[in-house]
Amino acid sequence: MGKKKKLLRFAENETFPNLFQWPSVPETPDMAMKGQWGASYFKNAAPLVLELGCGKGDYTVGLAQLDPTRNYVGVDIKGARLWRGCRNALERGLPNVAFARIQVEFIEKMFAPDEVSEIWVTFPDPQPNKARKRLTSPMFLARYARILRAGGLVHLKTDDYDLYDYTLNEVVRPAGYEIVASTADLYREEAPGFELARAVQTYYEGIWLAAGKTIKYIAFRLNGEGKPNS
Ligand SMILES: C[S@@+](CC[C@H](N)C(=O)[O-])C[C@H]1O[C@@H](n2cnc3c(N)ncnc32)[C@H](O)[C@@H]1O
Repeated sequence: MGKKKKLLRFAENETFPNLFQWPSVPETPDMAMKGQWGASYFKNAAPLVLELGCGKGDYTVGLAQLDPTRNYVGVDIKGARLWRGCRNALERGLPNVAFARIQVEFIEKMFAPDEVSEIWVTFPDPQPNKARKRLTSPMFLARYARILRAGGLVHLKTDDYDLYDYTLNEVVRPAGYEIVASTADLYREEAPGFELARAVQTYYEGIWLAAGKTIKYIAFRLNGEGKPNS
């Protein structure tokens, strides 16, 4: 995307009522919306679901349409991609959708302990050489556990076998988290619990499917304190 188009999108982002931006500078105070998403923005006490690394927010908008009884916030650092999600949600008149521009590293600046019910991580960068930067590394999961309610689910969809294998066998199993669903081939294997993972296809998912790749999926339950479930 050209620089001019990006700047136009950044300018329009400032006008969107459904976008909240935090500058990803550690010294910046927490967002005023932290702990207040239900009361101040959505005006209800429905469960809050996040999509991390949401890009254009396909899961955020898709799940919000499928299930109006929950609130959805898509999180990404790239403003030009979030612009698309914001526009889609506004054009569809979805009151249960918002977006947050922030690095996931600072997610606790945006959401309070126990404020979130569920997290989707959709086609994150696999970071083959930097395990610490993977959005399913133990350091990231500890952050998620601090904002997730007890028993909250984390879902990962990826085209990358190494990221799936790492998450399943180096993170989730050693920590003892309860595995709710897992498959290395989402669209060919049959098992309960795959419905939502099949219900929405993201922009990147479309690219990988067209290239003949299989989609991997895992859903697991963190407890409320970032410690293994007993
Ligand atoms: C490969 S894209 C996937 C986008 C979308 N989920 C999809 O499936 O089409 C990865 C996205 O994660 C975002 N991302 C990667 N690391 C991030 C981080 N630490 N904090 C916030 N966003 C991040 C990128 O900006 C990018 O939009």
